[in-house]
Amino acid sequence: MTLAELEAAKAVSLEEIEKAADAAALEALRVKYVGRNGSIPALIKAMKDVPKEERPAFGKAVQAWKAEVEASLAAKMSSSPAAKAFEGDLTLPGRWFGLGLRHPLSRVIEETAAIFGKLGFTVADGPELENKFNNFTALNTPAHHPSQDRTDTFWFGEDCLLRTQTSPVQIRTMLGNKPPVRVICPGRTYRRDTTDATHSANFHQIEGLYVDETASKPVSLADLKSVLSYFAKEMMGDGVTVRFRPHFFPFTEPSVEVDFSCHVCKGKGCPVCKKSGWIEVAGAGMVDPRVFKHVGYDPEKVSGYAFGFGVERIAMIKYGIPDIRWLYENDLRFLRQLG
Ligand code: DAH
Repeated sequence: MTLAELEAAKAVSLEEIEKAADAAALEALRVKYVGRNGSIPALIKAMKDVPKEERPAFGKAVQAWKAEVEASLAAKMSSSPAAKAFEGDLTLPGRWFGLGLRHPLSRVIEETAAIFGKLGFTVADGPELENKFNNFTALNTPAHHPSQDRTDTFWFGEDCLLRTQTSPVQIRTMLGNKPPVRVICPGRTYRRDTTDATHSANFHQIEGLYVDETASKPVSLADLKSVLSYFAKEMMGDGVTVRFRPHFFPFTEPSVEVDFSCHVCKGKGCPVCKKSGWIEVAGAGMVDPRVFKHVGYDPEKVSGYAFGFGVERIAMIKYGIPDIRWLYENDLRFLRQLG
């Protein structure tokens, strides 16, 4: 490009800027002329090909072009209607929305997933609106069981209900996968409970299911206890121990209730553990052969354990929350104390 050509190109560019109709057009011109791959930077790069004696004058002209383009872009931009329309007080402080924080229930669920993740468990999901087979029948819960009552469960017709537990995700997982199975399933659950300090009609559970071929490794209650003990220590700290108490659930045999030693008094007895030194956190057991039959697994060939934790329970003891309702009020003054 000769000097004369450069001057001509400059005149064109300045005219284009002058005629630009809006901010988008100005931006396009900025990119075209002074953007990283624009024509002026390209000229600067090509400077080495200009004959040596012409180089100083040419360089000056290019720099002048660049400066003029930038100045007229800026001038045009600040005189645009959008720029003029802003007449606010630039010295006012901005609006501060504050940093958000994870809800304690989310934190318990995420930590649980991370802890079991280290043991090879993946997270499975299921719907909150379930059918009778997944929530009750396949879990070996007979029609006359009180949990199926209209007064205990939110039914929507004969076969549709708000799941009363996360256990139906066990069924979904086994129906969809061959053993071995290693999943945890966090989620919302619903029961017709009257709300008080320890009850809520909508709460959360974390289900766990482990099933393996018995021939390769029979799964035992000892496996269950060791996994839950590991979880307890990771979640609550090293001092926590786990206790099993015999219990009954239709879908496990044998069944146990699982207590953690009270982390507040270290098992000595305090108001949090009602002076017992222990806090109930889960139900668990060895998967009942009838459950395996319902999902097409051969109980002669596979064995496994299952457990179901109350998320609110764990959050309440971990963070020392005395009333379950605090978890649902979304009062930032409370939530920030746990952040
Ligand atoms: N679903 C039970 C409940 O809501 C908890 C439970 C008990 C889950 C034993 C399990 C289990 O997986 O094996 O009370």
